[in-house]
Amino acid sequence: MNSNRTFTMLKPDSIEQGNMLPILNMIENAGFKIIALKYKRMNREEAESFYSVHSDKPFFSDLVTFMTRGPIIAAALEKDNAVEEFRKLIGSTDPLEALEGTIRKKFAKSKGENAVHGSDSNENAALRNRFSF
Ligand code: RTP
Ligand code: MG
Repeated sequence: MNSNRTFTMLKPDSIEQGNMLPILNMIENAGFKIIALKYKRMNREEAESFYSVHSDKPFFSDLVTFMTRGPIIAAALEKDNAVEEFRKLIGSTDPLEALEGTIRKKFAKSKGENAVHGSDSNENAALRNRFSF
């Protein structure tokens, strides 16, 4: 069964570059309803735990440093088939591969600093509970 909810984070690069509102606009214009939203800075423990699936990857340390260097926006989103639809809206991890019209095509600077996170499974979407929505 497809879930109608997903979880996103606007990563520190988006906030630093003043892209918070344009990205939230793109999300709303694509038909997602923002049902919870939190502005916060993650500590190392939270970022390591959030991305623990990547703990053995060579980019893990850089990823945790990046995700903790400034505040993020965490949000829960609602739309039919939300997880899959939102992954389509954000585009490929590497902005060079992201399609026209996607958030990463427009706002991501590199594969590492790529503007936005989107849950890739319904189970993963449950991670929003960590943010106490
Ligand atoms: P996310 O989890 O943040 O939505 O990103 P994703 O599914 O598209 O990509 P994933 O494979 O889960 O990687 C998580 C995040 O790690 C950083 N990364 N850097 N330098 C690199 O080769 C590299 N690869 C991944 C990115 O911030 C990526 O979004
Ligand atoms: Mg991922």
